[in-house]
Amino acid sequence: MGIKTDLSTKIGSLSLQNPVLTASGTFGYNTEYENFMDLEKIGAIVTKGITLKPGQGNPQPRIKEVCGGLINSIGLENIGIHEFIDKKMPLLLEKKLPFIVNVAGESLREYKEIAKICQNNEIRAIELNLSCPNVEKGCLEFGRDDETLYRLVCGVREVFSGTVIVKLGTNISFPERIVSAVQKAGADAISAINTVKAMHVSINPGYKGFKYIKGGMSGRCIKPIALNFIYEARQHTDLPIIGMGGINNPYDVLEFLAVGADALQVGTGNFTQPDLSEKIIDELVAFMETNGYRSIKELTDSIRQRK
Ligand SMILES: Cc1cc2nc3c(=O)[nH]c(=O)nc-3n(C[C@H](O)[C@H](O)[C@H](O)COP(=O)(O)O)c2cc1C
Repeated sequence: MGIKTDLSTKIGSLSLQNPVLTASGTFGYNTEYENFMDLEKIGAIVTKGITLKPGQGNPQPRIKEVCGGLINSIGLENIGIHEFIDKKMPLLLEKKLPFIVNVAGESLREYKEIAKICQNNEIRAIELNLSCPNVEKGCLEFGRDDETLYRLVCGVREVFSGTVIVKLGTNISFPERIVSAVQKAGADAISAINTVKAMHVSINPGYKGFKYIKGGMSGRCIKPIALNFIYEARQHTDLPIIGMGGINNPYDVLEFLAVGADALQVGTGNFTQPDLSEKIIDELVAFMETNGYRSIKELTDSIRQRK
């Protein structure tokens, strides 16, 4: 019998059995994927983005497959924090599935209000979506300006004692300022990247005008953007970074770990392979066993040496 491979990872006060999570908006609220995979194997489920009140999202069409990924403009359709707590959370607790609530809002006050509700309901970890490119108000604007972001995270920190993860995107001008502000404000971790602003165009028949869909791009095509963002963010913070953007196999995971990520989220890949996160975990364990790595730390220390 070989030595057991240890994939355990800590994000703030949250201890995870492994570093592979599922990304917000691609995995529902609780057990939607249970017919496809063993949910108990995942590091944690990150819920769909949740606002104070339920939201209807943007009108259709709001999703378009493009080369190497997809563009979505869902616009934060969600059930609202109260319905999540009443109807979705009990099953997560009953099945003992670790979860992180992805929080979105239109004002600093709304983020704080949701964080307070999470605190009162003993939710252990929240991910603040400060980077959604397809809603009119909030999110992206708050994550773009370091002073606003600092105030927002400080406000949340005042009322929430669990793990606070700040989710960033690449639609910002000064990543170094933003990353430093997140750390200074007392967040526990950064997650990145959110979808990348994009547009799909189709020319009408007879070349009479065109139709388009604008939104956020995700999937394999954004992996190089994500790797670069995380590599740069790593130069400005020692907080744990949860990397995502086009992860589809364990070799993608190695690349994210190499540039500075400590944990990963699997997103768009879930739509084409609903058991992808489980597969990645199994294959990562097999890879580590074959190559003699006993822990994620040993693996990251090894691949981060540049030769
Ligand atoms: C349909 C869809 C809905 C999403 N909804 C959210 C959301 O509610 N909150 C959030 O922070 N990110 C959301 N995202 C972004 C993903 O969590 C992730 O950051 C992004 O898609 C990059 O990872 P991927 O390329 O593996 O999908 C959504 C992505 C997609 C494709």
